[in-house]
Amino acid sequence: MENLLMKLNRYRRLILILSGLALVILVGLMTGRVEAAPASQEIANESCLFCHSQPQMAKTFPNGEVLSLFIDGSTFEHAVHGQEGIACVDCHEQMAQVPHPAFAAQTIRDAKLQLYTVCQECHFDRYNSVLDSVHQTALASGNFNAAICTDCHNPHTQTRITDKDTGETLPEAHLFIPETCARCHSAIYESYKQTVHGTALTEEGNLDVPTCIDCHGVHNIQDPTTSQFRNETPLLCAKCHTDPAIMDKYGISTDVLDTYVADFHGTTVTLFEKTDPNLPTNKPVCTDCHGIHDIKPVKDPQAGIAIKENLLVKCQRCHPDATANFPDSWMSHYIPSVQNYPVVYYVNLFYKILIPGVLGGMVIYVLTDIYRRFIARKKGGAH
Ligand code: HEC
Ligand code: HEC
Ligand code: HEC
Ligand code: HEC
Ligand code: HEC
Ligand code: HEC
Ligand code: HEC
Ligand code: HEC
Ligand code: HEC
Repeated sequence: MENLLMKLNRYRRLILILSGLALVILVGLMTGRVEAAPASQEIANESCLFCHSQPQMAKTFPNGEVLSLFIDGSTFEHAVHGQEGIACVDCHEQMAQVPHPAFAAQTIRDAKLQLYTVCQECHFDRYNSVLDSVHQTALASGNFNAAICTDCHNPHTQTRITDKDTGETLPEAHLFIPETCARCHSAIYESYKQTVHGTALTEEGNLDVPTCIDCHGVHNIQDPTTSQFRNETPLLCAKCHTDPAIMDKYGISTDVLDTYVADFHGTTVTLFEKTDPNLPTNKPVCTDCHGIHDIKPVKDPQAGIAIKENLLVKCQRCHPDATANFPDSWMSHYIPSVQNYPVVYYVNLFYKILIPGVLGGMVIYVLTDIYRRFIARKKGGAH
């Protein structure tokens, strides 16, 4: 008896294929054609899932890689394409024939690269909009590991991202974004998770902080190592950091851009950004002091740059001779006041009084002089 079961088990795959064949032929006989590319109503998802719902179903590629061919029908039903009534054969037209026609992919990646192009049939604009992104350029130059649609959106399990009525990103989709990028950029993700922004997102579900795509975009990601990207960094951070509607909740100053621009470093960078954004700058932008994928709260007891020793290290990258008190030569983001940088404050105040005082005095002097001469001439002219 046990022997028979084992034998049956061994031939399971064959039995499965034969019964699937029988089913498809039956469906074919009923509808009158099997070969012609059928419309979705004619081949129901169930006839595909008859075979593909077997959890152990897999295919071995010539290089030994094994691809699971299991598709979970109930997950598909709840995913956006299932919900929208898109059928298996709408995306897999050539698989409508069973046994399937030979599929010439040599590796799993090869198979995915061939299959993903179907996205353009329904998402035409989106498909074309990605063509100049870093991933697509990398792909075009032969880096086949660069992200394609299906690396970020599994066609069988992807749930709705935007609200159908408002078009707004749904909170649960928003929270998942960095993990999508982490599939390939895992080191950056691990670092991001520890930042002031990343912990707020991953631990508190805070939607005010930037995910990868707030800084890089999604379908239009550009090379972030160019001079242009660097020169525009202050504006990137300022998008949120000058907005009181966001920052007041956290008690964070919204003067950080203005004070940066007023500073000897920032003035130059801003000028570059306006005149020729491609000019490389040797002055620091926000990320030179705060970090990029490792931004910490400024008062973080270990890495915070409100601590002078931590800040000094940042200055020394460009001012290699800087010593312990060097950061004092710079006003940080402070607007001079009686509390912060009183000397600068009083010097400013002095000039604010002195200059109008001197100029005003001169104007009064000139005016009274003219008046005096005028009166004198009038008197002289009357005789
Ligand atoms: C009789 C069982 C059976 C049925 C029914 C069936 N398939 Fe398959 N399918 C297979 C087998 C076996 C393979 C692996 C073929 C190989 O080894 O190249 C496969 C492979 C695939 C692949 C993967 C191609 C690749 O190599 O990456 C897709 C996609 C697919 N089937 C879709 C479908 C769709 C859509 C339907 C319904 C129209 C369907 N299948 C119906 C047995 C079946
Ligand atoms: C919206 C388009 C779309 C729909 C609908 C769709 N697929 Fe796929 N399918 C794809 C793409 C694209 C791939 C390549 C997968 C990848 O890149 O990971 C794929 C891959 C597959 C594979 C190979 C294994 C894998 O996961 O890569 C099988 C098997 C498969 N699909 C079966 C089905 C079945 C069965 C259905 C219906 C229940 C279905 N597909 C519905 C687009 C679709
Ligand atoms: C046969 C048509 C069709 C194909 C092919 C197709 N899709 Fe879709 N897809 C849809 C429809 C319809 C929706 C729902 C759109 C809506 O309501 O805005 C959708 C929704 C989506 C969404 C969610 C959008 C949102 O705003 O929530 C994503 C992501 C998506 N598809 C990705 C893909 C990817 C990736 C591929 C290629 C593997 C693909 N689709 C292929 C028809 C298709
Ligand atoms: C590097 C990862 C990545 C790639 C590659 C990618 N997407 Fe997206 N996609 C996302 C993320 C993340 C979102 C959510 C965007 C948001 O919340 O604003 C998204 C949103 C979407 C949406 C819904 C909102 C919108 O912008 O329309 C659709 C549809 C979509 N993608 C389709 C595609 C298609 C089709 C491709 C391939 C041409 C593709 N995506 C490639 C990550 C990616
Ligand atoms: C399937 C893997 C994969 C996924 C998923 C992915 N990427 Fe990439 N990404 C790559 C590859 C490969 C490159 C090219 C690397 C290179 O050229 O050095 C790249 C390049 C980049 C670059 C340019 C790097 C440079 O030095 O020019 C950025 C920025 C980037 N990805 C951001 C993202 C973001 C943001 C996400 C998520 C929305 C994401 N990636 C998802 C694989 C991926
Ligand atoms: C607060 C803004 C911000 C966030 C959030 C962010 N990045 Fe970046 N990223 C940058 C900046 C700025 C650079 C340019 C670094 C430089 O000058 O070299 C960069 C560079 C990169 C690069 C290319 C250089 C490198 O280090 O390899 C990749 C890839 C990248 N980011 C991916 C990601 C991913 C993935 C995430 C999410 C986990 C993410 N970024 C989150 C701002 C950000
Ligand atoms: C030359 C280094 C440097 C540059 C450039 C710089 N910062 Fe700062 N930033 C600091 C230091 C140091 C502090 C901590 C000040 C303190 O509390 O003593 C700080 C504090 C902050 C804070 C916290 C403010 C608060 O209320 O707690 C934010 C937010 C900030 N910076 C954002 C930015 C942005 C955005 C830019 C670019 C427009 C930028 N920084 C440029 C060094 C810098
Ligand atoms: C999408 C909006 C957004 C963007 C873009 C953004 N931030 Fe933030 N940032 C926040 C929010 C919200 C917080 C407060 C998080 C919290 O405390 O939970 C924050 C906190 C900070 C802090 C910590 C301040 C403190 O309390 O010590 C620093 C430093 C900072 N950001 C720097 C930057 C820099 C530098 C950039 C650009 C590279 C940037 N941020 C881009 C939203 C943003
Ligand atoms: C990315 C490089 C970079 C970083 C980081 C940097 N600086 Fe500078 N800094 C410059 C450049 C370039 C100049 C202009 C030098 C010149 O014109 O002689 C400058 C000028 C100055 C000046 C004007 C006086 C002088 O020496 O010419 C002071 C003060 C100064 N920096 C302080 C700081 C402090 C404090 C830090 C750390 C908080 C810092 N800098 C971080 C690049 C940088």
